[in-house]
Amino acid sequence: MTEFQISSNLIFGAGATDALGRYCKKNVTVITDAVMKENGICDRIVNLLRTCNVSVYDKVMPDPTLTLVTDCLKFVTDKGAEVIVALGGGSAIDTAKAVILVLDGMNVHPEFVAIPTTSGTGSEVTNYTVIRDEDAGRKIPLADDRMIPDLAILDYKLTKTVPPKVTAFTGMDVITHAFEAYVAKGANPITDAYAEKALKLAFEWLPEAFKNGDDDAARENMMMASYLAGLAFTKAGLGICHSISHAVGAAFHIPHGEANAITLPHVIAFNSALNVPFGADKSPTAKRYAEIARIIGLPAAGTRLSVQYLVREINKLINELQIPSSLLQAGVNLPNYTEHRSRIIQAALEDICTTANPVDPDAGQIGAVLDRVFGKMLP
Ligand SMILES: NC(=O)c1ccc[n+]([C@@H]2O[C@H](COP(=O)([O-])OP(=O)(O)OC[C@H]3O[C@@H](n4cnc5c(N)ncnc54)[C@H](O)[C@@H]3O)[C@@H](O)[C@H]2O)c1
Ligand SMILES: [Fe+2]
Repeated sequence: MTEFQISSNLIFGAGATDALGRYCKKNVTVITDAVMKENGICDRIVNLLRTCNVSVYDKVMPDPTLTLVTDCLKFVTDKGAEVIVALGGGSAIDTAKAVILVLDGMNVHPEFVAIPTTSGTGSEVTNYTVIRDEDAGRKIPLADDRMIPDLAILDYKLTKTVPPKVTAFTGMDVITHAFEAYVAKGANPITDAYAEKALKLAFEWLPEAFKNGDDDAARENMMMASYLAGLAFTKAGLGICHSISHAVGAAFHIPHGEANAITLPHVIAFNSALNVPFGADKSPTAKRYAEIARIIGLPAAGTRLSVQYLVREINKLINELQIPSSLLQAGVNLPNYTEHRSRIIQAALEDICTTANPVDPDAGQIGAVLDRVFGKMLP
């Protein structure tokens, strides 16, 4: 038996932020970062809230930490926010979500609006937040429905200023969400529909969004792909690509989408038993990947060959987006890798995303995938 509830509201399209006009004479706190302050996006949002008493917390940093969340919580509490508007990429929205969760524990329930400015995490619709514990050197994903924003406002025009590199990384995050959701233990025909559409849109439009950030259609379709992939994985779950990329990101300070892009082809190979003789022909997960190959228009073939085509297609895309294909290429050297290796394996095993992976991996298997992600077979 499966209960399927979509509890958040959505407004999308050019000019969607005008909907903020519905908030009248409220105490509003905008949670954002310095980039949004500098590029004028924050001022535009504050202007749309002109009847309200608006305070701005602009200290969010990429990969938010527990310290940042505590600081932001204090700000929000001091201001007595009735409405919280999270404005930015996943980092700003995730910070706000962690604050919302703590406030809920204090029996304080502000209305929560998420306005993404990247097309990547889908955080505006998910029940996840990812917070870094700087002392433990770990990124901790938390899942709780109380963090789902009440309202998501998707205005793709806000993503036009995203630099190509960030477009590439965040776009690969979208693709990874859809891939993992499609094969995850919690996948069902409804989440499949979201994931399939997200993949179709992302494979078609990500290269264009990367090459020409001013292209309306590319930005609009990537924003929708991000939302749909978020809907898919918040219900179906993720997998070990995210578990490994959380651990790798925390250890080597590699952006989330970049770590996912480097890891994804190796996780697909592992999950579909591509490196085991005749493994892919017997693997139900390989069949699922083969369906994705068909959905994104790759030539029809048997299961094993379809998965190989799919991995090749992802590698081609990563290359086109100028993303490194290994940790080694991304600047991680062997001594650094060796120092962190066992801690990364442990963190990946303990990550909640691992529970949804279609294959239950042991430490040795995670290690083998990780060595490939690093880019070199170790002795
Ligand atoms: N909550 C979830 O469901 C979920 C899912 C995946 C990842 N994450 C987490 O989200 C975080 C990553 O989020 P992200 O990939 O969106 O990156 P981000 O929020 O860290 O932003 C990356 C950079 O892009 C800049 N930026 C954002 N919007 C911009 C714009 N419109 N114009 C110019 N610059 C802009 C930011 O200032 C920042 O410097 C990580 O911590 C990751 O672990 C969360
Ligand atoms: Fe992600």
